Amino acid sequence: MSKIQDKVVIITGVSSGIGEATAKELAFRGAKVVMAARREERLKTIQEDIKNNGGEARYKVTDVSSHQQMEELADYALKEFGKIDVLINNAGVMPLSPVHENKIKEWDTMIDVNIKGVLYGISAVLPFMRERKEGHIINVSSVAGHLVFPSSSVYSGTKFAVRAITEGLRQEECMNNIRTTIICPGSVATELTDHISDEELKTSIKKQSEIAIDPANIARAIGFAIEQPSDVAINELIIRPTIQEL
Ligand SMILES: NC(=O)c1ccc[n+]([C@@H]2O[C@H](COP(=O)([O-])OP(=O)(O)OC[C@H]3O[C@@H](n4cnc5c(N)ncnc54)[C@H](OP(=O)(O)O)[C@@H]3O)[C@@H](O)[C@H]2O)c1
Repeated sequence: MSKIQDKVVIITGVSSGIGEATAKELAFRGAKVVMAARREERLKTIQEDIKNNGGEARYKVTDVSSHQQMEELADYALKEFGKIDVLINNAGVMPLSPVHENKIKEWDTMIDVNIKGVLYGISAVLPFMRERKEGHIINVSSVAGHLVFPSSSVYSGTKFAVRAITEGLRQEECMNNIRTTIICPGSVATELTDHISDEELKTSIKKQSEIAIDPANIARAIGFAIEQPSDVAINELIIRPTIQEL
């Protein structure tokens, strides 16, 4: 039996990109997937697709920047499936811009979604995982969580934070048999660059993203981390297109 079979996995940011690919990969491998994002129509279509391929998935419309909604998401997973084995904090936004442009609203959104969303997710599932002395929290950071480039100051700041939070959590919770994994993708072909408001920068970043790999590759890496025996923790994975230099 696949080590993923019957695991209950909450995934945020499932309405496109890496989240969608991961929900499909894990559901097709037998996981019971609880999908979250804000765009309900997309979640519905993805759920149908998974169902038509013999998988099991539920969804709950959730804004990860709301602590209350993240608690409700965890409660929903428990009500539907009775346990939570894995949380994948994947939802994220990347409206890049140089600091001097003062895009305060975009900074706030990145901090709310990329950092607070991850913390709220952890907070919503940790009590149950500590009680069971079992669980796996997977946080999606980025290559931009290892390095900074002009216009990535705030985005990289949030992704460095995700790595710091995850490593701290690992040290605090490893004795409770809770595994943590940091996923650091390089360039992946998704909608992430669509929300860059500076048109010139958007065009340039999209040009650099021509080397991007399919999100299914990140989904497979996440599956690899989950399928390890419970006494083995894959703590961090960096997955780039082969030809990506930085
Ligand atoms: N693509 C890349 O090259 C790349 C590289 C490194 C890291 N990453 C990271 O990978 C993760 C997934 O991004 P992606 O590339 O798959 O981009 P994407 O296609 O734009 O997907 C982002 C997802 O996040 C969700 N989301 C955004 N704000 C949200 C909120 N407030 N509440 C709930 N969900 C929210 C979106 O759903 P709704 O809008 O429907 O809510 C969407 O499903 C992000 O953390 C990103 O930083 C991506």
